[in-house]
Amino acid sequence: MNISIFGAGYVGLVTAACLADVGHRVLCVDHDPAKVALLRGGQIPIWEPGLEAIVARNAAEGRLLFTTDSADAAAHGNVCFIAVGTPPGEDGSADLQYVLAVAHSIASQMQDYQLIINKSTVPVGTADKVQTRVAQVLQERGLLLPFDVISNPEFLKEGSAVADFQKPDRIIVGTDSPRARALMTELYEPFNRQQQRTLFMDVRSAELTKYASNAMLATRISFMNELANMAELLGADIEEVRQGMGADPRIGYQFIYPGCGYGGSCFPKDVRALERLAHEVGYEAQLLSSIEAVNHRQKQRLFDKLAEQLGGIDQLRGQTIALWGLAFKPNTDDMREAPSRTLMEALWRAGARVQAFDPVAAKEAEKIYGQRPDLMLAGDKYAALQGAQALLICTEWQQFRAPDFGEMAQRMTQRLIVDGRNLYPPARLRAEGWTYLSIGRP
Ligand SMILES: NC(=O)c1ccc[n+]([C@@H]2O[C@H](COP(=O)([O-])OP(=O)(O)OC[C@H]3O[C@@H](n4cnc5c(N)ncnc54)[C@H](O)[C@@H]3O)[C@@H](O)[C@H]2O)c1
Repeated sequence: MNISIFGAGYVGLVTAACLADVGHRVLCVDHDPAKVALLRGGQIPIWEPGLEAIVARNAAEGRLLFTTDSADAAAHGNVCFIAVGTPPGEDGSADLQYVLAVAHSIASQMQDYQLIINKSTVPVGTADKVQTRVAQVLQERGLLLPFDVISNPEFLKEGSAVADFQKPDRIIVGTDSPRARALMTELYEPFNRQQQRTLFMDVRSAELTKYASNAMLATRISFMNELANMAELLGADIEEVRQGMGADPRIGYQFIYPGCGYGGSCFPKDVRALERLAHEVGYEAQLLSSIEAVNHRQKQRLFDKLAEQLGGIDQLRGQTIALWGLAFKPNTDDMREAPSRTLMEALWRAGARVQAFDPVAAKEAEKIYGQRPDLMLAGDKYAALQGAQALLICTEWQQFRAPDFGEMAQRMTQRLIVDGRNLYPPARLRAEGWTYLSIGRP
């Protein structure tokens, strides 16, 4: 098939690369010229394991091309994916301007039947809005062409995006059109060989499934964080509680880790957008507003613990604090809404200097914060500790799990760790003379 993908971000680029890899002719368009220049030069703008090789292979074989020209892309594909961002607007609702701009571009070039697939995470009712926009443009052009707008939300996870796309748990397709259904069956056939993974449903249910899934995962995290905070006050150990809960197969072990809050480009914005959606239809979604409120408070926990340990916020002025982990989770360089940002910004407000290390996100941090005297981006994890009064841990990168505590103690001025990911056994660290504060553990 000739496929056009609008947006070369985490979702668009992975979709483009994986569809080209099974043999489709893919043109990927992004309105960011720097991104497209990089892609044309054989580099990829994000850090995603395995992606660069697939992009390179398919670009070299001529099946994957990149452009900034929306008109070219609209003309190339008889199947068009919308994979642009849907950032939160001021009231928390999803901002659809990019999605609708793509709908406009596609409709401006349409000559024949077009399948328009929305992969961006969008509120229920968006497919109808895209449908209306396309129909309007066609009417202005004096054309009456057949087209379908369908929902195909994406469930890939940053850090394992390629594998998730190639072997998805499920492929959700929302459409009532037999023609669109047949095309989608053909398109995803290579990913359904082992077992049938596609679930067809109506468009609105497909749109809601994406938000519902993210809100459920965010709920589990906030629930555990709430319990962890209570465990601290009650003298219980949340790690023991977690094991005890997870043993129940109805609960399971996944996604019940307490920590310093969730971040990323999806959970925070999607929970807010879902809450907003409830509000728009006159429903007060009490549970949804609590998920975000608990998360917001949790992101402050590491700073509060540190300040309390040092005897107050004033004690932070002029201090050097080490930070391990900038990305919102391991195996990505994405720092959108990362807990590390809340923490660093609080430390700077208190007058502290941050020495941070992340295996891949330093460039991203520099992009966000620029060069500043109170931020040093270290080249390795031990260098970040030099002369630091405390170490704070925000991301559970594999290489932080078994560090050399002797070397750490030598480099730091105090043996103080505030761990937002519960990486170490508290008893062992205490036996070695560390003050070790973690989440929900005595
Ligand atoms: N990142 C994830 O893990 C993930 C997972 C599932 C779903 N999603 C959803 O997928 C969508 C995209 O997310 P992302 O993380 O890939 O975003 P992103 O910000 O990484 O990429 C979006 C890209 O779209 C481009 N763009 C915007 N308007 C455009 C236009 N009119 N024409 C061409 N390009 C345009 C931007 O320049 C950007 O490169 C969002 O709705 C998100 O919620 C993301």
